[in-house]
Amino acid sequence: MRAIQMTEHGGPDVLRLTDAPDPQPGPGEVAVELAAAGVNFRDVYERQGVYPKELPAVPGAEGAGRVTAVGDGVTDVRVGDVVASAEFRGAYAERAVAPADRVVPVPDGVAPDLAAAVLLQGLTAHYLTHSTYEIKPGDTALVHAAAGGMGLLLTQMIKLRGGRVIGTVSTDEKEKLARDAGADEVLRYDGFADEVRRRTGGVPVVYDGVGKTTFDGSLASLRRRGLLALYGAASGPVPPLDPQRLNSGGSLFLTRPTLGDYVATREELLWRADDLFGWIASGELSVHVGGRYPLADTGRAHEDLEARRTTGKLLLIP
Ligand SMILES: NC(=O)c1ccc[n+]([C@@H]2O[C@H](COP(=O)([O-])OP(=O)(O)OC[C@H]3O[C@@H](n4cnc5c(N)ncnc54)[C@H](OP(=O)(O)O)[C@@H]3O)[C@@H](O)[C@H]2O)c1
Repeated sequence: MRAIQMTEHGGPDVLRLTDAPDPQPGPGEVAVELAAAGVNFRDVYERQGVYPKELPAVPGAEGAGRVTAVGDGVTDVRVGDVVASAEFRGAYAERAVAPADRVVPVPDGVAPDLAAAVLLQGLTAHYLTHSTYEIKPGDTALVHAAAGGMGLLLTQMIKLRGGRVIGTVSTDEKEKLARDAGADEVLRYDGFADEVRRRTGGVPVVYDGVGKTTFDGSLASLRRRGLLALYGAASGPVPPLDPQRLNSGGSLFLTRPTLGDYVATREELLWRADDLFGWIASGELSVHVGGRYPLADTGRAHEDLEARRTTGKLLLIP
């Protein structure tokens, strides 16, 4: 099969298209013919060597498609089922393998490429708005990079729960997308904390996937006892922090959550995935695919994501 192989860490040029053997499902695993694979920042960090990854490797974790084979002991997934997972081993390929208990069924009303586009970021936006901080009607949330893959989904889910959204973006085009997704107010990054405080007096929650460049302003945007969910670092990691800042900021809460801890059980994974697919099938959640790239152009997809040129979700189409 055709697959992207990475033999060294580095820039986007280490992502090379090669012929690789078809992956075979071991006990408890399923093999899937992928309709699409999702491009995520975690893949960029693995490519750079920031997250550990043994080499050589086929990168990518997210995808969806039809099951072509099941390993020993798999009883509730069958050949021919359409499934999605954020835990494939090597999704930048025509076929990939995942543990059977970490794939979710994709219902008929959801196209497989959309399932691949929504799963990882959708599960993340779900836990952030339903579990890390449960959005209540009338809550105003600050969402950074509101036109990004995460930002558009967070915005829609906060609105579904009756909340208000103040989004930050870098361009007019991104502002329009954020507003179309339901953002009530959209700001540029310059002086955003003063503006958020002026308009609201401080918000109960900030969803920050940008990190280094927004962190101080995010803390300053919170009201007394507000919560900063620092879920990513698109602009770089946040330097070490003196806990005293949370005290002087107004008894603030800071969390650095990660998806694995919010889909740790199969029950929780299915709850969140069923909500996502249900909202897509009913038209309550729309998934904006900002770019589709052939496998051979995987390096370009990474470049575009890192250079802030993209909106919504990026897909690889094998
Ligand atoms: N913790 C978790 O469970 C989890 C799960 C999924 C994703 N994440 C994290 O969520 C973050 C967003 O992921 P995503 O895939 O949805 O990306 P994305 O938001 O589509 O892309 C990143 C966006 O961040 C903004 N940005 C601001 N400064 C930037 C800089 N210096 N370099 C690059 N981008 C910058 C840009 O939007 P503007 O141009 O509008 O500023 C850019 O488009 C990532 O850090 C990712 O690792 C975390």
